[in-house]
Amino acid sequence: MSLAVLSPEQIQAKLLEKKYPAQETYYAMYSTWWGGVVKNPSLMMVPIDDHLVHRGDGVFEAIKVVDGRVFLIDEHLARLAKSAELLSLALPMSIAEIKRTCLELSAISGQQNLILRLYISRGPGGFTTNPYESVSSQMYLVATTLKPMPAEKYEVGVACGKSEIPPKDPWFARIKSCNYLQNVLMKKESVDRKLDFTVSFDAQGNLTESSTENIVILDKNGILVRPTLNQILKGTTMMRSFELAEALVKSGDIKAIEERNISEQDIYAAKEVMMIGTTLDVLPVSSFEGKKIGPGIAGPVAKKLLALLKEDIKKGPTSTAVPY
Ligand SMILES: Cc1ncc(COP(=O)(O)O)c(C=O)c1O
Repeated sequence: MSLAVLSPEQIQAKLLEKKYPAQETYYAMYSTWWGGVVKNPSLMMVPIDDHLVHRGDGVFEAIKVVDGRVFLIDEHLARLAKSAELLSLALPMSIAEIKRTCLELSAISGQQNLILRLYISRGPGGFTTNPYESVSSQMYLVATTLKPMPAEKYEVGVACGKSEIPPKDPWFARIKSCNYLQNVLMKKESVDRKLDFTVSFDAQGNLTESSTENIVILDKNGILVRPTLNQILKGTTMMRSFELAEALVKSGDIKAIEERNISEQDIYAAKEVMMIGTTLDVLPVSSFEGKKIGPGIAGPVAKKLLALLKEDIKKGPTSTAVPY
């Protein structure tokens, strides 16, 4: 075997030849490493010695843009800042500048509906675990397609199961780090088992979350319950939905809103179970480990909560403070 040593021009030519279907869903990328934007997906790259690549040393967010409006951007950026702080990871620019960059990149993408994928990395510099090797933290921001769930899922509901992947330690679960191996394996097991989602339980049998979604229940008494926040990611969509659900308490559709531990038994006894997250909004769960949940299709509260959230998304970026 003889390895070709390529010139920069040859590398560029080879990169530009690389074509695969997913690239059609990448519209534009900004990188602090270049200090600019690239629109050709074949050139959307990060340095191999960025500790994000070889150690998962970084944090991220996925932010939804609908009809040109960036939903819950302040809440996403507050969580990003908190995740970075917990890892002693300095942001390469202020939150205000990150926000402006998100809005500008959305405009550059020329698309009205997007998922903005925002990564803050420890930065390039060496290959050890030592974060002090890195020259400086970097930001990579990619504007990608927003691919909604099939509409029928909101009517028939989704199939969920119990994950066998060990749940994250509570400290890590609250950080949206680029170290997402458990989440990756949970997604893999759901695909392998032909389920829409699997969810984890902690060592005490308390429900935590799914690969990249929160899960909540309408309990047998009509109380909308989310798991306690000490072992899950504080989902921006879940928190916002629970604020919006106050209207359902007033209208008498639900009795109250609570945050407490939820067991597997509580899931089977629930009137309704819902997955909640940025891409899917509020999605009804129709079965858990093959057993029917509630009506076995979308329940009335899931439908009402989804309608409230969709209305909220239309009103544009909210500045609802979600303090940490
Ligand atoms: C582990 C995990 N839980 C829950 C969520 C849902 O959070 P959000 O509603 O902010 O998308 C996500 C996605 O960000 C996640 O990665």
